[in-house]
Amino acid sequence: MRHLIDPLDLSRQETGRLLDLAEKILDKPQEFAHCCDGKILATLFFEPSTRTRLSFESAMLRLGGQVLGFSNAQSSSAAKGESVADTIRMISGYADIAAMRHFKEGAPFVAARYAKIPVVNAGDGGHQHPTQTLTDLFMIQRRRGRMGGLTIGLCGDLKFGRTVHSLIKSLVRYEDVRFVFISPEELRTPGYILKEVVEPSGHPWREVRKMEEVMPELDVLYMTRVQRERFFNEEDYVRLKDSYILTPEKLRLGKPELTVLHPLPRVNEIDQRVDEDPRALYFEQARGGVYVRMALILTLLGLAPGILEED
Ligand code: CP
Repeated sequence: MRHLIDPLDLSRQETGRLLDLAEKILDKPQEFAHCCDGKILATLFFEPSTRTRLSFESAMLRLGGQVLGFSNAQSSSAAKGESVADTIRMISGYADIAAMRHFKEGAPFVAARYAKIPVVNAGDGGHQHPTQTLTDLFMIQRRRGRMGGLTIGLCGDLKFGRTVHSLIKSLVRYEDVRFVFISPEELRTPGYILKEVVEPSGHPWREVRKMEEVMPELDVLYMTRVQRERFFNEEDYVRLKDSYILTPEKLRLGKPELTVLHPLPRVNEIDQRVDEDPRALYFEQARGGVYVRMALILTLLGLAPGILEED
């Protein structure tokens, strides 16, 4: 049984095959409409979500399966003090696969240790968000035809941004990727990511404070939200929240084929006028998340032979 807790739980080859499957599903969804008949997905969300939870649920429903779960910790017995380990022990008897979002880093990892069903990390605190990364890679591959040979700018909250951490971990596995980290000093990429992930990869990287300075060289601009919920005090959040605002004027400095992504939700960091620009792909990116999660559910349930190495 395989889980997806960290993006590296799937090898680069497995990731590639899973994304190819997502493409096939997107192309002919009707061929997959009954693949999960009789199967149940549990969505265990201890933290708010729109895209991840609903795209997981949409994915399972589109595969012919059913869903159950909760969308906040207060409506589960976690509010009475039940542990993650006990919760997943119960859910293992109620569902065939579980997607868990938790405010505590490492909670889905703990769940996987006690689960009798595949567990997917749907975002744990400021740590990792592997299914968002699969969605990001799917969009990059669809738009650019490859992951390697690109200059990727990651902008905003690189300290607490779990989507950024997971994306960096995955991208270092491709050839000739160049990273530009754009953040205020207080929200820099964590040292452990730079030292343990980026530096050993040998890929060139640098940190800058101004988006405009690097815009002309980027192939992909990955915007992120400054996350109020990760700050210890409101004053710091208010000071940093508008550090970067992508406007049509700034986007004019970018290449004609630039790909602008954002895991969403967006607050102020992308001016709504940017939505009209054909390079702004974040809504299409979010839509792709359904097909990626369909492919993942099929893979982890053993219903898509040939994706995982042991198949
Ligand atoms: N991208 C993402 O994780 O969005 P939600 O928080 O709405 O799930």
